[in-house]
Amino acid sequence: MDRIKHQGAAAGSDAGGGVAATGRIEARGVNKVFATDGREVVALRDIDLTVERGEFVCLLGPSGCGKSTLLNAVAGFSLPTSGRLDADGRPVTGPGPERGMVFQEYALFPWMTVAQNIAFGLEIQRRGRAEIRDTVDRLLDMLRLRDFRDRFPKDLSGGMRQRVAIARVLALDSPILLMDEPFGALDALTRRNLQDELLRIWSETRKTVLFVTHSIEEAIYLADRIVVMTYRPGTIKRDQRVSLPRPRDPASAAFNDLKRELGRLVMEEQQRHADAETRAAAVD
Ligand SMILES: Nc1ncnc2c1ncn2[C@@H]1O[C@H](COP(=O)(O)OP(=O)(O)OP(=O)(O)O)[C@@H](O)[C@H]1O
Ligand SMILES: [Mg+2]
Repeated sequence: MDRIKHQGAAAGSDAGGGVAATGRIEARGVNKVFATDGREVVALRDIDLTVERGEFVCLLGPSGCGKSTLLNAVAGFSLPTSGRLDADGRPVTGPGPERGMVFQEYALFPWMTVAQNIAFGLEIQRRGRAEIRDTVDRLLDMLRLRDFRDRFPKDLSGGMRQRVAIARVLALDSPILLMDEPFGALDALTRRNLQDELLRIWSETRKTVLFVTHSIEEAIYLADRIVVMTYRPGTIKRDQRVSLPRPRDPASAAFNDLKRELGRLVMEEQQRHADAETRAAAVD
């Protein structure tokens, strides 16, 4: 895996939009305010974050701290109230093919087979028959789904379905991969398998990954950098580089030192969340 060479080759190519892909995400002074029932919730405040091409960054924090809000802003599903947000060298104004999203619940079409689900985005883009067939075959191999190509989602385990969801996003070959707790609903063993698969795919494709989780261990296992968020308003509490060599050993002392330190930060925010809920209950 030669990162420099791969990046050089990809940077010289044209993704089809006329502009070479940068794969970079950049947020400057991003705010997001939700207004519900006459009340304003500041979900994000003053987010400054740069994710470089090919980096794997995890957003970590307790429930309600704004992880999905930030990811959805980058995806273009729900734009910031103010601030600047660029992805792949352009301002984010809505969803785009240079950003692929994988959700926690496997957003597959139940009436399509595995192969049809993977091919769907390419069909929409009116790619040629041969290209679609080759891409689907390659992804079935990459995600170890070859034996399941003609099955329907209902006949697959949760882990298999999430492999299909990942394959479907990879089919579009977006330089940026956005993932919102994609393994949150899986049992521990399946989750570890898929984390390893994802790291393998990432090392082969060197996509930029922005990955939301509230599992500290998952973040340390996966990320180059972990961005810990505060609870309401969502700000960046710590931007932590993880320099442990991969594959990482969750039983190692260094892993556990980091786990303890990040656990302390997340617990502080969890406590703020609990206090806010208690105050809200007292008002009701
Ligand atoms: N569409 C919306 N309308 C109003 N408030 C919202 C909306 N979406 C999110 N919020 C609020 O913004 C805050 C951040 O929510 P968000 O879903 O981003 O948190 P999260 O970190 O992803 O949490 P979880 O770990 O539970 O998924 C929360 O207080 C939430 O209630
Ligand atoms: Mg969320």
